[in-house]
Amino acid sequence: MEDYNSNNNSNNNLNINSGNETINTLLLSQSPEDIGIAAEILKSGGLVAFPTETVYGLGGDGLSAEAAGKIYAAKGRPSDNPLIVHIADVSDVEKLAASIPDKARALMEAFWPGPLTIILPKKSLVPDTTTGGLATVAIRMPSHPAALELIRQSGVYIAAPSANTSGRPSPTTAQHVMEDMAGRIGAVIDGGPVGIGIESTIVSLTGDIPTILRPGFITKQMLEAIIGQVHIDPALIKPDPNIRPQAPGMKYTHYSPKGQLTIVEDSNNPEIISQNVIDKINSLIEQNPDTVVLTTGQTADKYNTDRIILLGEDHQKSSTVASRLYAALRKCDEMGAQYILSENFSQGELGGAIMNRLLRAAGHKVIRTP
Ligand code: TXA
Ligand code: MG
Repeated sequence: MEDYNSNNNSNNNLNINSGNETINTLLLSQSPEDIGIAAEILKSGGLVAFPTETVYGLGGDGLSAEAAGKIYAAKGRPSDNPLIVHIADVSDVEKLAASIPDKARALMEAFWPGPLTIILPKKSLVPDTTTGGLATVAIRMPSHPAALELIRQSGVYIAAPSANTSGRPSPTTAQHVMEDMAGRIGAVIDGGPVGIGIESTIVSLTGDIPTILRPGFITKQMLEAIIGQVHIDPALIKPDPNIRPQAPGMKYTHYSPKGQLTIVEDSNNPEIISQNVIDKINSLIEQNPDTVVLTTGQTADKYNTDRIILLGEDHQKSSTVASRLYAALRKCDEMGAQYILSENFSQGELGGAIMNRLLRAAGHKVIRTP
């Protein structure tokens, strides 16, 4: 408590705005008292990072243009990339969205609280700074108890991107957040490692047919079971510099480790880690012995290196792979890896969402064998 008092929010604001002084970032627990401290920081215009079921978010007051400005500054993020507004009560959508189609209501009923973000036309209450100038707003009701408690205690609709520096892998632990944000934000609520590990599915309900703008834990099949036909933004299926993704954030290089990440896959069947893939990776390790390999327990012992990061026991358990992916990419940096080779991870229910992140982290660099 003392720490917080001696570092009050007018100071926080000043320091963040001036951009060069650092502030003392509190590391808080999930206790209601600690969340109360975080809620005060939010209410007075400061920034707080908090756990959600997907990744850690960097929260500020979603109805304050000034707070949104601070979020962009802390992340080093382009301000045309809109923020997701987090709510704790389904009825709050009425306050933020200008119209709510029946299909949107059906999805909220089925998947909230949970890892689904819904894009709807915005009301003028939501500042353009929060939505990157768009006429639509992204809304999500997270299921993590600490996130819900923070929204409820603060009474704030929390605008929150992932709590990483722009371009770095999203944070899945409070430690990751501290690496990127210490000295720039008021507090981090430590909720331990998150459950899912990749960001929410984003679905737009602003057009004729609901469209997935970012794949995630809630799959196309799960959405279609509730509302019928769902499209996928064509820019996600085949990256093409001439097709602009509908979610502005999907156009930026993302999640990148500092080294060069390349995916190695079999041209006949990308899902199989064939002898061709293993031979190719081993020949590249021979050229660059510093190379780090992203693999699973199934094939880890086939590589002639001990610079191995395991994403799980096998490729089929995609929820384990998803939960370890971003920590693995950060680990590559800790290991000082200049070259990183990854197997293909398209197997399992979350394979599509995992490959979406992995391909962008690799800048779409893929070697196909033989
Ligand atoms: O799981 C998540 O969604 C996490 C946690 C913290 O909730 N948040 C998150 O936020 O991933 P962020 O800012 O890292 O990603 C938000 C994505 C960006 O690609 C952004 O362009 C897109 O959502 N987005 C936000 N508002 C949008 C809008 N009105 N229309 C289209 N895309 C939008
Ligand atoms: Mg992000």
